[in-house]
Amino acid sequence: MSEGVTVELPDDPALAYPLLAEQVRAVMAGERDAVANMANAAALLGHHLRRVNWVGFYVVRGRDLVLGPFWGLPACVRIARGRGVCGTAWERGSTVVVPDVHRFADHIACDPASRSEVVVPMRDRGGSVVAVLDCDSPEPDRFGPPEVRLLEEVAADVAAACDWPLP
Ligand code: SME
Repeated sequence: MSEGVTVELPDDPALAYPLLAEQVRAVMAGERDAVANMANAAALLGHHLRRVNWVGFYVVRGRDLVLGPFWGLPACVRIARGRGVCGTAWERGSTVVVPDVHRFADHIACDPASRSEVVVPMRDRGGSVVAVLDCDSPEPDRFGPPEVRLLEEVAADVAAACDWPLP
């Protein structure tokens, strides 16, 4: 990666999100290590996205998701397939948007400040889910189509930029 790729972004999501996705690709350029790339992706998303309190990755390890690199407060370490928002996104193999976590029966509360959440599965080249990207906000209904498009793009880029499975 080149030094100093992190530049501040405009307020308008229509302008900021493509630049943010580009910054994530830039910090991963020439690097295949999944931990390093997930760490920089989480840092960039957490730094630049407005009104979010947690951004990070859970990695598929056998029958569980295990906490990976993240930005935010310490979080629960292990989530079984099908449990919580993360395990549900893994099981369904598709993005899960939760506008109000208090109304999602199986939500796993890590940071009590979280009020809405989006989780995006990530696939290896063979199509297997290898990780999920999770983003939480203290604001209800924070994640609309622009945020979902951004996070799906970043999740696909990180998945494609890394070697799976992790050692
Ligand atoms: N809320 C998630 C757990 C992870 S934390 O949000 C960081 C869930 O229900 O799966």
